[in-house]
Amino acid sequence: MKKNLVRALQRCAAAGAVVLAAISLQPTSSSAATPPVVGGTRAAQGEFPFMVRLSMGCGGALYTKQIVLTAAHCVSGSGNNTSITATAGVVDLQSSSAIKVKSTKVLQAPGYNGTGKDWALIKLAKPIDLPTLKIADTKAYDNGTFTVAGWGAAREGGGQQRYLLKAQVPFVSDASCKQAYPELVAGEEICAGFQQGGVDTCQGDSGGPMFRKDNNNAWIQVGIVSWGEGCARPNYPGVYTEVSTFASAIKSAAARL
Ligand code: ARG
Repeated sequence: MKKNLVRALQRCAAAGAVVLAAISLQPTSSSAATPPVVGGTRAAQGEFPFMVRLSMGCGGALYTKQIVLTAAHCVSGSGNNTSITATAGVVDLQSSSAIKVKSTKVLQAPGYNGTGKDWALIKLAKPIDLPTLKIADTKAYDNGTFTVAGWGAAREGGGQQRYLLKAQVPFVSDASCKQAYPELVAGEEICAGFQQGGVDTCQGDSGGPMFRKDNNNAWIQVGIVSWGEGCARPNYPGVYTEVSTFASAIKSAAARL
């Protein structure tokens, strides 16, 4: 019970409204030679053109030019909503060339109650002319090494980032992930991270995509940043919404938005 509450809070979201980012935690103290982000590095301008930052402090990805796929826990419900600003087209959130577009509607996953089903769609006031990120509709890509990116904290308890960070994390099986998280909803969630920790998403990365290359060498989204125990802790992988499970629901919801 208490643990579920704690886990719900780890789903952050509204609370303090952290922002996104690909993170990592440093195993121990750093030396002067340590890069600014352990386990993560700066993304190049244009490297992940589908990445979106949302004003409530979450990440997202362009599912279509006018619809952002994010996490259910990043939004407060469904309906008309003009309060969210999506920032796209830049790695530097303070860049004068940032594309900023307001939301018009939000659709939170049907049946979302804080456990699993952590996806939502945000309709934008106008299309953004940038490449979109296709979503996996089978489990074929639910394995291997994934890329994560975001503007969230670069270490547990750290501040939000100005520049987009990226990192790579390996798939973790449901069986192994359940050892850390008995409450894992295995059919709806997919885990990733190193057993030794050190690389992870973190507060403010929520809603952003976890993705990899498909058989045609194109990026494909397999996960949505959802939750975890702290960030980058050993034996506590990051938990992501399993996109393939919801692909047809996402597709039909987008068609109705
Ligand atoms: N719930 C967090 C957010 O809203 C994301 C946490 C991801 N944690 C992790 N250890 N991978 O930004």
